[in-house]
Amino acid sequence: MTMMMMMCSSLVLLGLIGVSASSSGSSSSSPRMKLSYKDLQQFNGIKWFDLEHSCCFGALLLDEERGRLFVGARNFLLSLSLDNISKQEQKIYWPAPVDWREECNWAGKDINTDCVNYVKVLHHYNRTHLYACGTGAFHPTCAYVEVGQKIEDHVFKIDPSMVEDGKGKSPYDPRHTSASVLIGDELYAGVATDLMGRDFTIFRSMGRRLSIRTEQHDSRWLNEPKFIAAVGVPESENPDDDKVFFFFRETAVEAQGFGKVTYSRIGQLCRNDMGGQRSLVNKWTTFLKARLVCSVPGNDGTETHFDELRDVFLLQTRDRKNPLIYTVFTTSSSVFQGSAVCLYTMNDIRRAFLGPFAHKEGPNYQWVPFQGKVPYPRPGMCPSKTFGSFESTKGFPDNVIQFARHHPLMFNPVTPLGGRPLFLRTGIPYTFTQITVDRVNAADGHYDVMFIGTDIGSVLKVISVPKGSWSNTELLLEELQVFKDSSSIISMQISSKRQTLFVGSQTGVVQVPLHRCSMYGKACAECCLARDPYCAWDGHTCTRYLPNTKRRFRRQDVRNGDPNALCSGDHQKQRVLEKRLYAVDGSSSFLECNPKSLQAQITWTYQRHPENSREEVRERSETERGLLLRRAVRRDGGVYQCHAMEHGFTQTILAITLEILPLAGSAPSAPIPRSPLWYRDFMQLVDHPNLNTVDQICEQVWSLRKGRNRRTHDGRPASRVPRSAGE
Ligand SMILES: *[C@@H]1O[C@H](CO)[C@@H](O)[C@H](O)[C@H]1NC(C)=O
Ligand SMILES: *[C@@H]1O[C@H](CO)[C@@H](O)[C@H](O)[C@H]1NC(C)=O
Repeated sequence: MTMMMMMCSSLVLLGLIGVSASSSGSSSSSPRMKLSYKDLQQFNGIKWFDLEHSCCFGALLLDEERGRLFVGARNFLLSLSLDNISKQEQKIYWPAPVDWREECNWAGKDINTDCVNYVKVLHHYNRTHLYACGTGAFHPTCAYVEVGQKIEDHVFKIDPSMVEDGKGKSPYDPRHTSASVLIGDELYAGVATDLMGRDFTIFRSMGRRLSIRTEQHDSRWLNEPKFIAAVGVPESENPDDDKVFFFFRETAVEAQGFGKVTYSRIGQLCRNDMGGQRSLVNKWTTFLKARLVCSVPGNDGTETHFDELRDVFLLQTRDRKNPLIYTVFTTSSSVFQGSAVCLYTMNDIRRAFLGPFAHKEGPNYQWVPFQGKVPYPRPGMCPSKTFGSFESTKGFPDNVIQFARHHPLMFNPVTPLGGRPLFLRTGIPYTFTQITVDRVNAADGHYDVMFIGTDIGSVLKVISVPKGSWSNTELLLEELQVFKDSSSIISMQISSKRQTLFVGSQTGVVQVPLHRCSMYGKACAECCLARDPYCAWDGHTCTRYLPNTKRRFRRQDVRNGDPNALCSGDHQKQRVLEKRLYAVDGSSSFLECNPKSLQAQITWTYQRHPENSREEVRERSETERGLLLRRAVRRDGGVYQCHAMEHGFTQTILAITLEILPLAGSAPSAPIPRSPLWYRDFMQLVDHPNLNTVDQICEQVWSLRKGRNRRTHDGRPASRVPRSAGE
């Protein structure tokens, strides 16, 4: 297939995906558990940090040994405690000097939003120092930050003599993205190196070697790139083969003629690249890039593409040469919106770089795979003893350098593992912005738990479990609203050691635990249905699963989540909540049932007398979370049970005894309201427009009643509150 055809399919097919995504059903697309900011707070599950006169907590750096979270923000560097980020923090005020701010302002930039120092780059440098860079009011600047050898040192400062130029390391413009990685004492950065933001480059600086960069003003190399991430990955046991990979998105040269189309890319280069001798002097000679595809195959062989890479997370495995690459993508279409998680392996990435080079030729000047003879050593290979006898890129033959210069693009794209996204959402009012992943050992193997940040301040916790032998199914375990103000998530760090997720936005930083096992419920079935690899039933309750401890009663089955098989030993069955409700003959009544799991399907059964059999309730109008009796008459009285069905397992969660009270005037029959006061209060409130649920009505009655009791010193026990008998 030519590039041209690939382009067409991607353009034509945006829009079709809505169909395939919505066919997965509504119950499984909602999270199993959704926790609001308030829920998290009440559960003591969230800690918060913000700073007056600052914002934009976009750079987070974890330091497990010192127990610190370092944060880069506007005009500040922060050192927070990993155990509690709300505690007294250490901070460094790092503004841009006044003359730079004025200069910036003269250049037409806003004095308050642009002409300040946004700290965007933060790396570990050596055992005592960090390296940090900021925009410095359109005057990039970097500094070595002293943090001390040990935790007890409590050092956190910038020595003014250790501040240096940040050009080619930090962006000028706070709105620009950049990506960098510090390896050894060298910084590899993808960044704009000029004030106007036109000269984008991948730049190596610091250290002892000469700086080196991408070819300037050549759209085949980089074309208005937006850098997302940079990582170092070894290729063999020989450090000479070490590579650095850049992730970015850019305007696709191979799609010229279709307007401005964005493609996502992975770029590679060799750490030991010294540039060419006669040509490409102080430029990369090993730079190659390939398209990163994240798309959904349609029924007719076409593809729907998520084109815009947003974030990358490298999950290290035991083999350092083969980390897993988790990414999030969004669509560039204004018509069709969606987000996806795609997973890539190093093998697939290496295969693309070893495949054909993209080459422009033919009568129509199209992009085709290069068919001619590729010079030796093949461009993209690092000079090392592993693959040849070249000591340095400076020794590469001229034809190799020339070929590298004109063929930075690979013809084959890198496709995701399994050929499709691991997880995707379409037609939702938010997009994914960040991802981090934690590999968790469970009783039935390991699971990669994905924490996905969104642009509305929420975090999705997702796993992918095998379904049958060939396919996987994704489970959206939790949706957590971690920012009260719904601000977009711009940074995330995970600490497996402390079982904590750190999340940054424009307005603050929050800390949330990776799991809340006890919230699933105490019963074995509840814990089992949650299918959370962090949690297991321990014989009494749902708690953190630790693989190396032996517990006799412990039960966990993430893969199947089948309580029938797993929970036979749970004798303390889930307690059925009992409630008692009153309705007046002829009025409407709403029976409410809220299962913990949003994915559970609710059914109702009805039993008129204990000796009658239970019947399923069908003819009533069942709303999503309850049963509405539009006109409850006396024969509707009885016991209503609410059952939650999930994953083939049904549990009874609530039993409501409904008593129908006769209309005022007609002869009272049992049960007689305990107090006439009761009945009147109730009648007043039943059709009150601001009270929607029976619970709300009953609460009102209850408070009226309490007030009167106090006034009249009526000491009678208030046990017959209509609110509920089971609470
Ligand atoms: C975290 O620190 C804050 C501020 O010192 C304090 O109010 C809060 O109780 C601490 N939380 C925990 C769980 O220690
Ligand atoms: C770390 O780097 C800084 C800046 O170059 C230097 O002053 C310091 O001595 C270094 N520390 C160690 C332990 O090498």
